Amino acid sequence: MAEYTIKVRRYQPESGQGAYWEEFGVDLEPSLSVLDGLLQAKDREDGSLAVRCSCRAAICGSCGMKINGQSGLGCKTQIGEAQELADKKAGAAGEKPAGPTPIVIEPMGNMPVVKDLVTDMESTHWTKIRRVTPWLLPHGEAPEREYVVEPESMLDITQSMACIQCGACVSSCLSMEADPDFIGPAALAKAYRFVGDPRDAETKERLHDLAEDPHGIYDCTHCFACIDACPKDVAPMNQIMRLRRKAGEEGIEDPNSGHDHEMAFVKIIEKKGTLDESLLLQESFAPGIKGKLKPSKRAIKEMLGSIPTAIRGIKTGKMRSLPKLLPGVHHKLPDGAQDDVKAIYEHAEEHNEEFNLYIKGEEDELS
Ligand code: FES
Repeated sequence: MAEYTIKVRRYQPESGQGAYWEEFGVDLEPSLSVLDGLLQAKDREDGSLAVRCSCRAAICGSCGMKINGQSGLGCKTQIGEAQELADKKAGAAGEKPAGPTPIVIEPMGNMPVVKDLVTDMESTHWTKIRRVTPWLLPHGEAPEREYVVEPESMLDITQSMACIQCGACVSSCLSMEADPDFIGPAALAKAYRFVGDPRDAETKERLHDLAEDPHGIYDCTHCFACIDACPKDVAPMNQIMRLRRKAGEEGIEDPNSGHDHEMAFVKIIEKKGTLDESLLLQESFAPGIKGKLKPSKRAIKEMLGSIPTAIRGIKTGKMRSLPKLLPGVHHKLPDGAQDDVKAIYEHAEEHNEEFNLYIKGEEDELS
């Protein structure tokens, strides 16, 4: 048995007061969970402490919360490990108290709090899950019995099927913090579960819908926070990248030119070895013109529309050197380094691998 202090962010709406912090002392085996600690505090000290849980085995997805600032499941996080992390964080911040550091527990982020650790998942989670039509849309007559597909054809979606809807990814999503209308990691991972399902007949329609929505697949900023938070290794961001890849393959235009922008990076690095920023706008909005300027009306509009962003980038120091934007001044790679880069591309093409390193293709998983 060891003693721990848990510091809980509490909110009791009936009191009429705002949120406040309260500390509880609990004694537990280090291998028991943070949820066990909360239940002990509720049992021994304050029965009004609200926490949602059911299975206590990382299956039902009820006990999502932030522990030491990291979203996850209370029942899957050992209290001993949470203590180690709390100590480490306090040490790194130079705030180590004389005794053990309290384990900080908060309700999930990006959601309204109902009471203490209980959040309202309807507005930010379930509404968005319903937004992606989370059921199969097969065409034709329904078979007499079940739809039969090759088990191998389902492998690609097993990762997204592992989601238990706990909302930890939504809680930590930085894009959703900036744009609350972003469909979000959980719902988009769910969308891939149906886009990748060979029995679904409305893949194209789904992809158009998700790519053309300004709060859809191109609203993700690749921050990896959802991957870190997910307790079931669903890696929602990877599912979003898969949706993007499929939308790109279908030639679907998106309002942010996200696919063309991604491809511009791939093409420029193949050609130059490093990123020649002077080509980025041109290749993103009028790809393939290689100096012969014949951009479409849309490309001209997009390029002009990007000027304020470019100016902001220069002003804030994101683009540190103006000459970098002048065509032809980009430095070449020394010796045979450019050939090495080309060889990587050839290898990736031969082996049907993705250039985007955090996407694992279907072939990869099959092998
Ligand atoms: Fe079911 Fe934690 S209580 S996932």
